Amino acid sequence: MAAENPVERLLSLKGEVSSLPFPADEKELDALRVKYLGKKGAVSVVSQEMRHVPAAQKPEAGRLLQEIRTAVEGLVERAETEIKRNRVLREIENEFFDATLPGTAPEFGSAHPISAVMDEIVDIFSGMGFQVEEGPETESDLYNFEKLNFPPEHPARDMQDTFRLTGVDKILRTHTSPVQIRAMEKYGAPLAVIAPGKVYRCDADVTHSPMFHQIEGFVIDKDITMGDLKGTLQAFVRRFYGQDAKIRFRPSFFPFVEPGAEVDVSCVLCGAKGCRVCKNSGWLEILGAGMVHPNVLSAAGVDPNAWGGFAFGLGIERLAMLKYGVDDIRLFFENDMRFLRQF
Ligand code: PHE
Repeated sequence: MAAENPVERLLSLKGEVSSLPFPADEKELDALRVKYLGKKGAVSVVSQEMRHVPAAQKPEAGRLLQEIRTAVEGLVERAETEIKRNRVLREIENEFFDATLPGTAPEFGSAHPISAVMDEIVDIFSGMGFQVEEGPETESDLYNFEKLNFPPEHPARDMQDTFRLTGVDKILRTHTSPVQIRAMEKYGAPLAVIAPGKVYRCDADVTHSPMFHQIEGFVIDKDITMGDLKGTLQAFVRRFYGQDAKIRFRPSFFPFVEPGAEVDVSCVLCGAKGCRVCKNSGWLEILGAGMVHPNVLSAAGVDPNAWGGFAFGLGIERLAMLKYGVDDIRLFFENDMRFLRQF
């Protein structure tokens, strides 16, 4: 259009704008925006040309330009709202909600296999009259070793087995036996205690974890013999593994017992016939035990001439592995739901 007649040109643009079709979708809307409001769009171009309009026609031209701009912007705005509304309506229509479908069932937790085995063992001994005691997991050398009759240079104190805390004179207890001392110091004799808890050793492979669980058991009384120990353990093993389970004692050494023994149970997996787990021997080692050493009684303030006792310590993970046929201890601590759901 001729620039000589700007008002006429504006009038024609106004006519064009007033009869624009309503954009049906995003694409048409974008095209409209570009065509009129874009940098090179019609409205922008006429605004640029306003400076060539003769002074006499300026007011009229300015008013027309404003009307055009308002008309296009208004159309764009209405179209935006309408298109958005249609999109939402379409979404609602396509969405399908079936109120009769069953809901998602809540998941119920269950006891971790280690906790379950621990609870079961504690129950068995509680039933025999043992009281439950716990001790601290951060221990002193005094309670973990010295009062338990470990000589100063005993290899078990070695850095390789024992986790030492930095900055304080403490270690992570390597066994539950320090509870023997703590309970005797607290209650004196006679005493029958079961002490479950976590213990720590710097060791890790398929059968060793740096943290594992033990249950300590001990009885302090008059005239306690190795027969009492054997009878107690036999009763426990029958309750835990079944009436056919047998035990046997092998001589062994622990500084805090004399005599000391390692106790085996007849293989629960093959019925003592011989298998891979019991290495064809028919027996599985499950615990350490013995008669409480007189030095230990003295260290805990109990007169070794008046009292005697037996003690044993068993590893929970080992019993749980045998009971459930688990061949890698690490499975207990990885918290893989596929593993845990099986119990
Ligand atoms: N405390 C020993 C250990 O950790 C086990 C044990 C306890 C042995 C009581 C004898 C008596 O291996």
